[in-house]
Amino acid sequence: MIDQNTPVTVLGTGSMGSALAAAFLAARHPTTVWNRSPQRAAPLVAAGANQQLAIADAIAASPLIIACLTTFQATRDSLTAVEAGLNGRTLITLNSGTPSEAREFARWVTYHGARFLGGAIKNVPSAVGKPDTLLYFGGEQAVYDEHAKTMRVLGGDLVHLGAEPDLAALYESAVGATLLPTLLGFFEGAAVLATRGVSARAMVPYSIKWLQMIETLLPVVADEIDTRDYTRLGSSIALFDSATGYDEQLGKESGIDISWHAPMHDLLRRAVAEGRAEQSITALIELLVTPAARQEP
Ligand SMILES: NC(=O)c1ccc[n+]([C@@H]2O[C@H](COP(=O)([O-])OP(=O)(O)OC[C@H]3O[C@@H](n4cnc5c(N)ncnc54)[C@H](OP(=O)(O)O)[C@@H]3O)[C@@H](O)[C@H]2O)c1
Repeated sequence: MIDQNTPVTVLGTGSMGSALAAAFLAARHPTTVWNRSPQRAAPLVAAGANQQLAIADAIAASPLIIACLTTFQATRDSLTAVEAGLNGRTLITLNSGTPSEAREFARWVTYHGARFLGGAIKNVPSAVGKPDTLLYFGGEQAVYDEHAKTMRVLGGDLVHLGAEPDLAALYESAVGATLLPTLLGFFEGAAVLATRGVSARAMVPYSIKWLQMIETLLPVVADEIDTRDYTRLGSSIALFDSATGYDEQLGKESGIDISWHAPMHDLLRRAVAEGRAEQSITALIELLVTPAARQEP
């Protein structure tokens, strides 16, 4: 039987690249892999991947190339000197990076005759291939349409954000911004509990409910931001500002380091000083985005 599945090449077989290649193999796509340190691809070769030691041979092997190196720069450095081989290929990146890096990379790739989609996978390697795993892409609609079926092998929740090649990097930065502050908040809570010999696990059911409550607020928060009408949320800047004293007291009482709060407290005080005390907490956006940087939707 003739194999109808698009042959794919995966550049970079680190944690994420290996998961991507394994998903393509499991879905019976002819799969070529290349990695700077070749030994790292050994489990994929055992699973049926075609390993190429020269990156030029790897990009020659398939019409569709998925790059999952650490950065855009690492990807470009690896492809420089063999860039002529990109002509006529489609290259999809799934690494992290800034929008400007994505735009610059897209320019470079298209200059060398390849079609490009800038993508991001919003999950961990073990979630690759699952129905609700989210991947999003920016780039030409026709390129997305042509390869959506193949990319769905990597996750069932596929989104085309628009024609600009930096959109995945833009959304990646925007959506990803909550990760570290949210985790730090959880770590602080765990530290408070640790001072009383209580496990972090004891907090998990309540933290989940708390995050679900925040989830329900997000549409209102987003609407306030988009309309710049900071009157509907019902939680004022003054309320959060008064709670800063409580944070500081808790830090002293329990002996935990809450110094990561300082810039947030400073932001609240600046908002109060600007006369925003009675506006909802959402109005902090006015301090985060400078008038010069703002573009109306
Ligand atoms: N892991 C996750 O949970 C996750 C989730 C979403 C997105 N991502 C993104 O996926 C990308 C890869 O992450 P990962 O977790 O797979 O990282 P990783 O396990 O550290 O692997 C990094 C990969 O990049 C290669 N690499 C790094 N610098 C290079 C260079 N200068 N030249 C050539 N190759 C180079 C490594 O090659 P060597 O093996 O030779 O070092 C390896 O293949 C990152 O942009 C990351 O943000 C990861």
